[in-house]
Amino acid sequence: MGSGALFGSAEAALGYASARPPVHPAVVALAEERFDLPASVEVALDVGCGAGLSTRPLVGRARRCLAVDPEPGMVALVSQVAPGALGAEARAEALPVPDGSVGLVTAAGSLDFVDDLGAAVAELARVLAPGGMALVYDFATGRRLRDGPDLGPWFDDVLARWPRGAPSTSPVTADALEAGGLVVVCQPFEVDVSLTRSAYVDYLLTESFVTLAVGRGEDRANIARWLASTVPWPGVGDEPADVVFAGYVLAARHP
Ligand SMILES: C[S@@+](CC[C@H](N)C(=O)[O-])C[C@H]1O[C@@H](n2cnc3c(N)ncnc32)[C@H](O)[C@@H]1O
Repeated sequence: MGSGALFGSAEAALGYASARPPVHPAVVALAEERFDLPASVEVALDVGCGAGLSTRPLVGRARRCLAVDPEPGMVALVSQVAPGALGAEARAEALPVPDGSVGLVTAAGSLDFVDDLGAAVAELARVLAPGGMALVYDFATGRRLRDGPDLGPWFDDVLARWPRGAPSTSPVTADALEAGGLVVVCQPFEVDVSLTRSAYVDYLLTESFVTLAVGRGEDRANIARWLASTVPWPGVGDEPADVVFAGYVLAARHP
């Protein structure tokens, strides 16, 4: 399945604008603390920006903030989700910016979906300014609460009912970025996001296993009902709980 089937619908764009967990500011803060990320740059670029949630923390750090994604429905929401950023339709493999012009490049969960990872990495290296930094990061589905019931067995059941697609054949690794001539440091992270039960279900509905199931003809509303009525959430109402999002960030520079 191409990435358009996962991200090309109006529903996907709205879900990315409204229901994804806001882990991005914490990842940028971590990069500032651990990797000496410059406090401000002339130009920042978010590659595979979706609706712009990953772009938002870049806006105050750059005089000009650009955000690109191949899906027009996603790009149309960037100005609302990340006011001050300029969205454009483009792929990571052909970035519409000059050589060495971007002080901060981010790619949040997007490089797994490119058709040619080598070409995308070559583009990141091409546009990255001398002394600039690229942050390539991703996080797994939040399936653990910081305190509270173990969601693990329940989530295994979720995936048994609605399986994930095949993993990417070219994983985004430090080696893949180093092959493009960049120097890379990898840092795992955990970010806690407070979500209510209903916000957690809305978030899960944006995950690709649901999009795949709906593509096979399953009813999204039925999936939502099952998730909401079976998730072993603390309390009986719509109380918030801290969901742990575990991921990695690859910080890359020119040598
Ligand atoms: C998991 S979403 C992440 C969106 C956003 N970065 C965020 O964190 O909210 C992956 C995004 O990558 C985009 N994408 C797919 N193929 C791409 C490509 N070749 N170049 C750049 N982005 C791509 C999708 O359209 C989608 O918006």
